Amino acid sequence: MSALLVTGIGELVTFDPAHPGPDGVLHDAALLAVDGRVVWTGPAAAAPNEDADEVLDVDGAAVIPGFVDAHTHLVFAGDRAEEFEARMAGRPYTAGGIRSTVAATRAATDEELRRGLARFVSELHAQGTTTFEVKSGYGLTVQDEARLLRLAREVTAETTFLGAHVVPPEFAHDPEAYVDLVVGPMLDECAPHARWIDVFCETGAFSVEQSRRILTAGAARGLGVRVHASQLGRGEGVALAVELDAASVDHCTYLTDDDIERLAASNTVAGLLPGVEFSTRHPYPSGRRLLDAGATIALASDCNPGSSFTSSMPFCIALAVRELGLTPAEALRAATLGGAAALRRDDVGHLRPGARADLVVLDAPSHLHLAYRPGVPLVARTLRSPA
Ligand code: NIG
Ligand code: FE
Repeated sequence: MSALLVTGIGELVTFDPAHPGPDGVLHDAALLAVDGRVVWTGPAAAAPNEDADEVLDVDGAAVIPGFVDAHTHLVFAGDRAEEFEARMAGRPYTAGGIRSTVAATRAATDEELRRGLARFVSELHAQGTTTFEVKSGYGLTVQDEARLLRLAREVTAETTFLGAHVVPPEFAHDPEAYVDLVVGPMLDECAPHARWIDVFCETGAFSVEQSRRILTAGAARGLGVRVHASQLGRGEGVALAVELDAASVDHCTYLTDDDIERLAASNTVAGLLPGVEFSTRHPYPSGRRLLDAGATIALASDCNPGSSFTSSMPFCIALAVRELGLTPAEALRAATLGGAAALRRDDVGHLRPGARADLVVLDAPSHLHLAYRPGVPLVARTLRSPA
């Protein structure tokens, strides 16, 4: 048994309904974790008197749950900095750029891809992310998609098969044949390495009919469903996600009133990815409208070399407060508990007894500083449960 006592916490955000207020925030607090799980939080003066193996005095700092980033594309080679530069000069984002990352990724060795992943994982850790999902989607052959998922599995249990990212150039003349490949041999090879299946349901990628076929085939193999939808324009992807009880539908940039009502009445989380709007110049999604309607939202980085090359959840929180209409506490909740809901996990994203002891010590007295001091590295320390 190994016990860790964190004490001297100026502000502890637990999301534990046993504590006062909607976010379960404590002041002058302490937290006890045993064998990598939270067992107690409360006033520092009442901290259990058992012998802790380790005491961490954070000297008045704020402590929050580790971020849960439920949407990333971290296995790829190369970058698309010139595409970003052109966009900032007025060129629109199109999904076409994905194909250049596919070419670079296919040409990369496992070791090169592993090195890239390791770099992103250390960026995530340094910025307070303790749980993250990783998608395939830059291989688009049976062997390459399975390879990307095997590599992703080395760094996370939350792996997503995204063979239906775009139709690769060699199938441009016959997209239906590519869908046949995805639901047949590619799914056979990839399903053992994935927990989830995802589709880019958007004009220029996959139609709602193709998406339904792919997602249904994945669900029949035991994969959970996630969807990319309404990133570049309105469409039927959100309705499809709700119909299939997807864990999340991500982007949600162009929502109809019906979409919002459907989401609010469903178990499907709306994943908001403001790093995308930052770097594509599309309008930001309305987090406010979704919350007011009663939907559950998650904030995620969507870290990828095309539409959002940031791995920083604090940056996403700052954008969410400034541009999505969220309060700092709502943004923090979406980046922790919301991400956990999007992955259908109840062991992360909060600090209630039983949760994994995944927590972030901020170099700040309050979570408000995450949005108040944008761009400043405020993560002093990330603790991730080994259990
Ligand atoms: O989530 N929208 C589709 N896929 C990614 C972008 C991938 C890329 O541009 O390379 C996204 O934004
Ligand atoms: Fe994405």
